[in-house]
Amino acid sequence: MCGIVAYLGDKDAYPILINGLRRLEYRGYDSSGVAMMDGGVLNIQKCQGKVSDLEAHVGSQGMKGTAGMGHTRWATHGPPNDINAHPHRSTSGDLALIHNGIIENYAAIKEELMHRGHTFKSDTDTEVLVHLIDDIQRSEGVDIAEAVRLALVSVVGAYAIVVMDRKEPDLLVAARKSSPLVIGIGDHGDHFVASDATPIVEHTKNVVYLEDGEIAVMDRVNGLKVRNIKNQVKTPFIQELEMHLEALEKGGYDHFMLKEIHEQPRSIRDSMRGRLNVTKGEVVLGGIKDHEQKLVNAKRILILGCGTSWHAGLVGEYLFEELARIPVEVEYASEFRYRNPIVGEDDVVIAISQSGETADTMAAIELAKSKGATIFGICNVVGSSIARVTGAGSYTHAGPEIGVASTKAFTAQVTVLTLMALMIGQRKGTINSSQFHRLIHELDSIPDKVQQVLLKEPQIQYIADIYKDAGNALYLGRGYSFPVALEGALKLKEISYIHAEGYPAAEMKHGPIALIDEAMPVFVIATKGASYEKVVSNIQEVKARKGKIIAIVTEGDQVVKGMADHVIEIPDTLDPFVPLLSVVPLQLISYHIAVMRGCNVDQPRNLAKSVTVE
Ligand code: G6P
Repeated sequence: MCGIVAYLGDKDAYPILINGLRRLEYRGYDSSGVAMMDGGVLNIQKCQGKVSDLEAHVGSQGMKGTAGMGHTRWATHGPPNDINAHPHRSTSGDLALIHNGIIENYAAIKEELMHRGHTFKSDTDTEVLVHLIDDIQRSEGVDIAEAVRLALVSVVGAYAIVVMDRKEPDLLVAARKSSPLVIGIGDHGDHFVASDATPIVEHTKNVVYLEDGEIAVMDRVNGLKVRNIKNQVKTPFIQELEMHLEALEKGGYDHFMLKEIHEQPRSIRDSMRGRLNVTKGEVVLGGIKDHEQKLVNAKRILILGCGTSWHAGLVGEYLFEELARIPVEVEYASEFRYRNPIVGEDDVVIAISQSGETADTMAAIELAKSKGATIFGICNVVGSSIARVTGAGSYTHAGPEIGVASTKAFTAQVTVLTLMALMIGQRKGTINSSQFHRLIHELDSIPDKVQQVLLKEPQIQYIADIYKDAGNALYLGRGYSFPVALEGALKLKEISYIHAEGYPAAEMKHGPIALIDEAMPVFVIATKGASYEKVVSNIQEVKARKGKIIAIVTEGDQVVKGMADHVIEIPDTLDPFVPLLSVVPLQLISYHIAVMRGCNVDQPRNLAKSVTVE
């Protein structure tokens, strides 16, 4: 969702803010803005478009001041335009505010404020909040920090905010509820605030993650003070960031997405590092070791997630059922949270989230927790809200994922789920010793096999060129490859805007087959394994209707080669590990089609990387 960055210190704030906004642009990119305090003047510049448009709007001279804040927006209330862009200013003109989240009761507050003489310029819920703070400050005669606190008491919804007051130029006020905020503490008494650590890491490694309901005041003289909405003083917990700056750069690739696809041999290896020990013949996941018995004894596992993480969860379903013989249900977090789900103390919930901030996943966790279930998290972003609220779990260690379409996070999530299933399967005895050793040896070879798949890129580019103008595409797979078909279709629609559907191959005859004609590319995952022959029959059904087959096959396959229009060969592997290989050509094909269609691959229209609103 929206990206927030702020700075208070002795350096020029503008370059810090613009650079920070560029790093955060993956969170939202429909408009952006900056507020700067300069000699008693609160200067706000904002406009529709990308951060580069904001820079052009401000001009090469930049903006002056050593305190300021910036925002990049993903529209919720009101279209993306100059007026709805943040920061928003109060009626008095003294206050400026940036916000990520949704103020749910904004309409009622707005009406009340209008009766009190406030006028509004934008369609946003955010503007209501800045007027409310302003109103409280003046009517109660309190300072800005207290006015923010009192205003937040009457707010329903999710927010991460930063507020500046022209009358108190030496401080910044920040607060959060259900939307992340990180505070960086610099070496020279300077402070940074951001939605995530990416704009901070180049300045300092010392950070404080604000907790829900906390309000931070950063003051040039008194430093950082934190209290909560109930006015209780909190001691900030300073921790060291593990992130490295190089991980946030494109490293010679044209796009972050391409870089992240190519990083997968390394990121999968990193997900296994210290967990898979082939020599000793063991799998140990430190973050869940102490709760291992819960998993071993689980009568049922519930996997929760959204988007690509939900697809990884579906692969998890096949893994846990086959290797650990535990029934699994995979739920969209957004559906789960609004039912009255049957979940209790005997259930184990695994919540999967790359960002660790997805609002629906967070709410689903809270619900399952309130019903007594044991919760494990699988997150990529260290220190994220879901990682902190789940307590037990495993990081995927894929490194920062900046491209909005998830790639290396998916394979890392599947890797962690594989390790979990293997660990439980071994402990439960649902896989015998020789199977276990065969499996872990094969898993250990997966990063090298992913590297081999990446070498097929020129051929994949050739295929992309043939199908780049398709209006629709179908993705088919069975068993472990069904979730991969869903993920392949999602990748294509996300970044190339071609309508695509993923289906279990056998279900095609119950509907999608009606769509097939000579213009329809059908991507089929037809690797050797349990359902190979069945998938071959499904390919015949497509061919009989003149559909174009692009098949992902096991190296050396001649049967499918004889039927398909194109085959992309991947190395042979065991069924449970096929998703880690077969998804890679699908990621690459989507990437190249999107590039050929002139789409903005890293920042596809209407999407955001971290969805902190429901
Ligand atoms: C957004 C992203 C997707 C992601 C989904 C879930 O829609 O664009 O790539 O899969 O959110 O995000 P999470 O961070 O919870 O995995």
